[in-house]
Amino acid sequence: MPTRQKHVKPEPRKSSSSEIQPPKGKLGVMIPGMGAVATTFVAGVEAVRKGIAKPIGSLTQMGTIRLGKRTDARSPKIKEFVSLAGLDDLVFTGWDIFEDDMYTAACKAGVLERELLDQVKPLLSTIKPRKAVFDHNYVKKIDGPNVKKGKNKMDLAEQLRADIREFKKTSGVSRLVTVWCASTETFIEQSAAHQSVKAFEKALTQNDENIAPSMIYAYASLSEGVPFANGAPNLTVDIPAMRELSRKNEAPICGKDFKTGQTLMKTILAPGFKARLLGLNGWFSTNILGNRDGEVLDDPGSFKTKEESKLSVLEHILQPELYPELYGKFTHKVRINYYPPRGDNKEGWDNIDIFGWLGYPMQIKVDFLCRDSILAAPIVLDLVLFNDLAQRTPELRGIGIQEWLSFYFKSPMTAPGLYPEHDLFIQLMKLKNTLRHLRGEELITHLGLEYYD
Ligand SMILES: NC(=O)c1ccc[n+]([C@@H]2O[C@H](COP(=O)([O-])OP(=O)(O)OC[C@H]3O[C@@H](n4cnc5c(N)ncnc54)[C@H](O)[C@@H]3O)[C@@H](O)[C@H]2O)c1
Repeated sequence: MPTRQKHVKPEPRKSSSSEIQPPKGKLGVMIPGMGAVATTFVAGVEAVRKGIAKPIGSLTQMGTIRLGKRTDARSPKIKEFVSLAGLDDLVFTGWDIFEDDMYTAACKAGVLERELLDQVKPLLSTIKPRKAVFDHNYVKKIDGPNVKKGKNKMDLAEQLRADIREFKKTSGVSRLVTVWCASTETFIEQSAAHQSVKAFEKALTQNDENIAPSMIYAYASLSEGVPFANGAPNLTVDIPAMRELSRKNEAPICGKDFKTGQTLMKTILAPGFKARLLGLNGWFSTNILGNRDGEVLDDPGSFKTKEESKLSVLEHILQPELYPELYGKFTHKVRINYYPPRGDNKEGWDNIDIFGWLGYPMQIKVDFLCRDSILAAPIVLDLVLFNDLAQRTPELRGIGIQEWLSFYFKSPMTAPGLYPEHDLFIQLMKLKNTLRHLRGEELITHLGLEYYD
C-alpha cells in the first residue's frame, strides 16, 4: 500500500508584515458622486464611530480569518490581522453636479431615517461637493449646475488634480483613495484613444468623445498616485491606458460595479447549481427601483452598460463550454424598471428554471426585497481600506488591477486574457488567501488529510 505523504508545513514566505507600511496618519476618501450610496456610506461610518450603529456587512470590520490548522483555533479579526486604517482616521470629500451638502443629499436619497441622519448631521453638513466634471451626453437623464468649465478635457483633468492636491493639503491626510460612486454612464467600447497613456493624453487635449467624465477622474486620481475603485459598470479604468498609469504610479485600480442585490444572489446560487450538476434552462431577472440610479438606468444607453455587467456573470460561473448538456443553451434575461414609489428599496424577482436527474424540470423563485445602498455602503468601506492596504504593500502596489478584490464586483477586472472569477466563495477564498500570503501565513487549501494521518 502506498503510504500517504506526511503533511509538511511550508516555510513562511520571506515577505512579511514588516514590509507593509503601517497606516500612519489620516486617510482621505474622495468620492465622485455624492448620491445614495456615498451618503449612506459616510453617514454609516460616522454612526459607527459614534457607537450608535454596527458596520454590518463589512468584511474588514466584522470578518475573521482562519490561520493554520482547524485545531489551532486561530481566527483573528481581519482588521487585526492586517494593518488597516481605523474608521476614526477617515476624512471625506467628493464631487457632484448638485450643490447639496451630504446631509441634504442623504435626506433626499431617503435611504436612512431622519433620526439617524440628525445624529450625524454635524459631519455630513460640512461635506460640500466640489464642482464636478460632467457631460450630459454620457448620463442622459440628469443635469445639474455644479459643473466645472474648461477649455478641453485635459484642462478639466488638471482642475481635478488641483482639487486632489488642495484636499490633501488642507485636510492634512497622509494618503488618499478614490471610489467612484457616481452615475452609470452610457455604454462605450474600447477604442484607439484608450490604448496607451500617450494616446489617452492626446485624446484629452483633443476632446475625444471616447473619453467619458469617469475616465477624467480616474486619470486625475492615478496621475496623483491615488488608487481608484470603480463602483459603476462604466469602462473607466478597464482600459490599457489606465492599467499602464496605475502600474507606473503604483496606484492600485479595481472594478467594476458593486456586487449587491440580484447579482449577489446570482453568484451565491449559481455556484451551488454547478457544484451539484443541476442543469439550467433559463434565468429571468426583473427589478423595480425608484431611486436616482433607477432613473439614470431608464435611459437605454446607461442600461446597456449595466446590462453587460449583469449578463456576463452566469456564463462565467456555469462554464457552458465545459458542461454543454447542463448549460449549453440557457436563456438569461435581465430587466430593470424605474418605479418611483419604491425609492431605494428595490424589489428583485428571479425565476430560475433548472433540471435534475433524467432531465426532470424544477423551478426556483426568489423575491429579494433589498435595500440597494445598505448593501453597497459596506463594500465602499472595504474598498477604501483594502485599496489603501494595497498601496502600502510593496507586492501589490505596482501590479495595477487588484484581482483579489473581485469579491466586491459584479464584473471583476482581470489581467488581459484571463476570465473573471464570479463565484462569491472562490472570490472570498482568493481575498483571504491574498491576506494570508501577505502576512507569510500558510494558504488554506481545505485538503485536510493531515487530520487523519
Ligand atoms: N446601490 C447599489 O447597490 C449599487 C450597486 C452597484 C452599482 N451601483 C452604482 O453606484 C453608483 C451610485 O449609485 P447611487 O444609488 O448612489 O446613485 P445616485 O444617483 O443616488 O448617486 C449618483 C450621484 O452621482 C452624481 N453624478 C453623476 N455624474 C457625475 C459626475 N460626472 N461627477 C460627479 N457626480 C456625478 C449624481 O448627481 C448623483 O448625485 C451608480 O453608478 C450605480 O449604478 C450601485
